[in-house]
Amino acid sequence: MASKRSLSFICQNCGAAYGRWQGKCEACGEWNTIVEEGGTAPAAAGGRRPGKGRTFALEPLAGETHDAPRLPCGVAEFDRVTGGGFVRGSAILLGGDPGIGKSTILIQAAAKLALAGHRAVYISGEEAVAQVRLRAERLGLSNAPVELASETSVEDIIATLSEGKTPRLVIIDSIQTMWTQVVDSAPGTVTQVRGSAQMLIRYAKKSGAAVILVGHVTKDGQIAGPRVVEHMVDAVLSFEGEGSHQFRILRAVKNRFGPTDEIGVFEMTGLGLREVANPSELFLSERDLGSPGTAVFAGIEGTRPLLVEIQALVAPTTLGTPRRAVVGWDQSRLSMVLAVLQAHCGVNLGGHDVYLNVAGGLRINEPAADLAAAAALVSSLAHAPLPADAVYFGEVSLSGAIRPVAQSAARLKEASKLGFLRAVVPDSARDGGEGMKLTEIGSLTTLVADIAARGAQEKRAKGG
Ligand code: TYD
Ligand code: MG
Repeated sequence: MASKRSLSFICQNCGAAYGRWQGKCEACGEWNTIVEEGGTAPAAAGGRRPGKGRTFALEPLAGETHDAPRLPCGVAEFDRVTGGGFVRGSAILLGGDPGIGKSTILIQAAAKLALAGHRAVYISGEEAVAQVRLRAERLGLSNAPVELASETSVEDIIATLSEGKTPRLVIIDSIQTMWTQVVDSAPGTVTQVRGSAQMLIRYAKKSGAAVILVGHVTKDGQIAGPRVVEHMVDAVLSFEGEGSHQFRILRAVKNRFGPTDEIGVFEMTGLGLREVANPSELFLSERDLGSPGTAVFAGIEGTRPLLVEIQALVAPTTLGTPRRAVVGWDQSRLSMVLAVLQAHCGVNLGGHDVYLNVAGGLRINEPAADLAAAAALVSSLAHAPLPADAVYFGEVSLSGAIRPVAQSAARLKEASKLGFLRAVVPDSARDGGEGMKLTEIGSLTTLVADIAARGAQEKRAKGG
C-alpha cells in the first residue's frame, strides 16, 4: 500500500511544489530542478494541529519605537555595507561564489567583535574545528575569544546557543549544510534549507542575537536553492570578485535596516582580507596610460565617490553579426549608447565587434557612466588616446544630449584629490572641483568631434 503521506516534488531552484515529477519547473522555467522530497512542508511544520488558534495582543501603530540598536563589528568596510553594524535580532544572508572569502571575512568580523568583548559564535557545517582554527591562526586571530563549533543540527545549535549569555553574533557557515528534524528531506534540499533558515531566523528574533547565514551561489548567481531565504532574512549581502583579481566587493542586495547602494572594498592578501579605504586608488592602480580605448569614470557608489577605468575595444568584425560583449556594465546601456552614436553622431559600429570592460572587476549600475563609456568607445575606434589626466561623467539621453547627474561636486573632488586636472562633464556641473579644468559638453556630438580631432592630430604627429 502506498504511503499515506503525500510526497511533494519541489523545485530546488525556486521552491515551487508539485504533486508529480516533471522536467521543467513552470514557476521559474528551470529544467531538471524538481526533486522528490518526503515529509512535511515547512508551512505545516509548526507542529500544531489544525484547530483553534491561540490569541495574541494587537498593538497600536503609534507607540514607542527604539532605533534599531546596532553593533559595529569594527571592520569598517563591512559596517558601511550593513548600514553601521549588525542590528540586534536581525538575520543576514551572505552569498558568494565558493572560495571568494566568505568564511575568511566572517571569522575576521567575529574575531574583531569578540576582541571588543562581545560574545561571538562561529558554527561551521563545512569545516572541522581544526580547519577553522588553522585559518584563524594564519590570519593572526588565534587569541580572539570566538566560540567555535562544527555542527549541522539546527536543534542542537539553538539549544546550545540558548544556554548562557545571548551571543551578539552567530555565524552559520553555511545554511546549505544545516538540517532540522522538523523536515525530513536531505540536507541541502530546498525544504531543508528553508526549514533550517526559518528556525535560525526565529531564534535571532527571539533572542536578539544577530545571525549571519552563509549561502552558496550557483553558477548563474542565485543563492543556491532557496531564493525563498532571501525573502525571509533582513539583509542579503553578496560577496563578489573575480578570480584573477585580488579585489573583493561586498554589496548589499537587500537591507531592511540600511542602504543598498553602499559597497565595501577588500583586498585578499596572504594575511586575509584587508580593507581598502580608498578604492579609487586601487581601481586605477593598474591603469594603462596613453593607450586608446580607456576612459576614467568618476562614479558614486552609495555615498562614496569612486574612480574607475572603463576600457573599450572596437575592432572590425569577421562575423555576420558583430559581437557585443560587456563585463561590469549593463548590456542594454551599451546598446543604447551605440545606437545614439550611430543615430546622432554618425559613428557606425555595425561592422565592428565591441568589447567593454570595467577594470578591477567592479560592476557599475549608474547611468552617469554613459559618457565615459562613449568616450572609451570612440577613442578606441579613432585610435586616439584620451588625455590621461581627464575624468568623464554624464548621462547620455536618447536624443544625444548629455544630461546632468547627481553629486557632481563629490565626483570632481575625488578626481582632484587623485591628481586629475580635467573633467568632461554635462553642462550644469559647474560647482566643485577646485583646480580642475571643466569641459562642459551639451551633446555627444561635441565629444565625438573632440576625440576625432585628437585622432587626426595624433595621426599627423606620427606621420610627420
Ligand atoms: P574562504 O573564506 O574559505 O572562501 P569561502 O568561504 O567563500 O568559500 O576563502 C578561501 C580562499 O581565500 C582560498 O582560495 C584562499 C584564499 N585566502 C587567502 O588568499 N588568504 C588568506 O589569508 C585566507 C584565509 C584565504
Ligand atoms: Mg567557506
